[in-house]
Amino acid sequence: MGLSNKELPKLGLLYMDYVLRFFDHSNFKGWPNKIETVTYHWKNDKERFIQEVKDKKIDVLIGNIPATAYETFREIARALPHVRFIPSLDTQFSNKSKENVTRFAWKYDLPIPKTYIYYNHKKADEALKKAKYPKIIKKSYGPSNYGGYFVHKVDSYEEAKKLLEEKRYHPVYVQDFVPMEADIRVMLIGHKPVCAFWRRAPEGEWLTNTSQGGSMDYNDVPKSVLDLAVKVSKAAKAEYWACDVAYGKDGKVRILECATAFAAFPYIRDWIGEYLMWLLSEGRFRKPHIPMFNWEELGKISPDLLRTMRHITFGEFHASYDGAYFGKKKKMYGEKEVYLHELDKKYKISAVKPRYSEEWPSEKWNYQDKLSLKPLRSLKKDSNVEVPKPTKDESQESFRDEVKITQEELSDFLTSVKGIGKKKVKKIVEHFGDVDEVIGVLHQNPNMLTEIKGITEKLVKKVKKAWKKLLK
Ligand SMILES: Nc1ncnc2c1ncn2[C@@H]1O[C@H](COP(=O)(O)OP(=O)(O)O)[C@@H](O)[C@H]1O
Ligand SMILES: [Mg+2]
Repeated sequence: MGLSNKELPKLGLLYMDYVLRFFDHSNFKGWPNKIETVTYHWKNDKERFIQEVKDKKIDVLIGNIPATAYETFREIARALPHVRFIPSLDTQFSNKSKENVTRFAWKYDLPIPKTYIYYNHKKADEALKKAKYPKIIKKSYGPSNYGGYFVHKVDSYEEAKKLLEEKRYHPVYVQDFVPMEADIRVMLIGHKPVCAFWRRAPEGEWLTNTSQGGSMDYNDVPKSVLDLAVKVSKAAKAEYWACDVAYGKDGKVRILECATAFAAFPYIRDWIGEYLMWLLSEGRFRKPHIPMFNWEELGKISPDLLRTMRHITFGEFHASYDGAYFGKKKKMYGEKEVYLHELDKKYKISAVKPRYSEEWPSEKWNYQDKLSLKPLRSLKKDSNVEVPKPTKDESQESFRDEVKITQEELSDFLTSVKGIGKKKVKKIVEHFGDVDEVIGVLHQNPNMLTEIKGITEKLVKKVKKAWKKLLK
């Protein structure tokens, strides 16, 4: 049963310069044929990239597309109609921006905090004048792997006005403030939850941010949360998926964020690889068995060790064999007590089918470019901005733009700017602590570079321009 080596589709891994790789060959253990890789180099690389995929005769291109490349890849996918993108560009629609997450939720009637999106700043101002507070204001699009760094609570119109004047977010993205117990990240493969954990805010705070002192744990994630995550994954037709669900003090569940790009332990990426091998081989490879609530047990292992554990497999429950952990164990779930293995029948791994039409064509849905503002006057200098340290573990807060640059790449980039040499690069890295911090500064507040002796505002302008160009 299943496809022979010759019949199997040709796989390619989609890589991007400067972006953390979600998969590599080791996640596809046992795949008998060569797996190609294709790397997107940004900047005018579209045609070359398309040609490379054609030359390598790739049938299935696997990988996450970061927000900043999303629109280009919609064009690339159109030029490669015979290539199956996994996840599809439509599934990755939510990767691009919070606005897209919201539009996706609106379409499928999925619960989210009440949200208002304004491209017209006058309208936004009028609405904020009349609004009830507190409200949450967020940056919709752009690098945000700093969990909550671009999320603000405002308690009055005056505060909202001041914030927007300072930040100049476009579009203006406003949500009702939802008092919550915690938020819960759920990861799914083939619509089945495979890992879930709570993130709780520090005492007295509202932001459930583990990188700023919040905590996480894997225990007793409620049924309503898992059910919502499954519903969302199905609506997105996602081969793999992560969902942040707000668990409100009112007991209601609402989606905060969802995407295909998220931080996950290597063993989870192995499971995705196994799932895809099953999906693409017409049953030649085994469908992985991933028991419900495995995370409560795996979560007891130290994260440092978990990070090194690979290809975790579980035996399935059989009635005749009563020694199996997941066969004997009971759990309170929803209203009643159930055997864990019974939950595996309810939450099945399902086969996600290829899609042949476009659900979210850019001509219609790319508001962001259609309604973009004229270039803004340069922002006021504000060197008091605190740049938090990005977290790199699986509790990482955000999905968008996990741009990761090595010291060498950073050095290459900075020295490409006239006026910056190796010595200055060294000073910059030393000043901010490490490469990630410098990237954070480049993303969020490049004006801080003037804190370094010998770096003038004029030089910063050049850096900004080069950085923008690099990510285009
Ligand atoms: N509408 C809201 N009401 C209350 N808290 C919120 C709301 N939206 C976000 N938060 C809090 O802010 C955090 C970050 O918001 P999120 O939308 O996930 O942005 P980020 O991209 O920074 O992760 C959430 O994890 C949650 O704790
Ligand atoms: Mg988040």
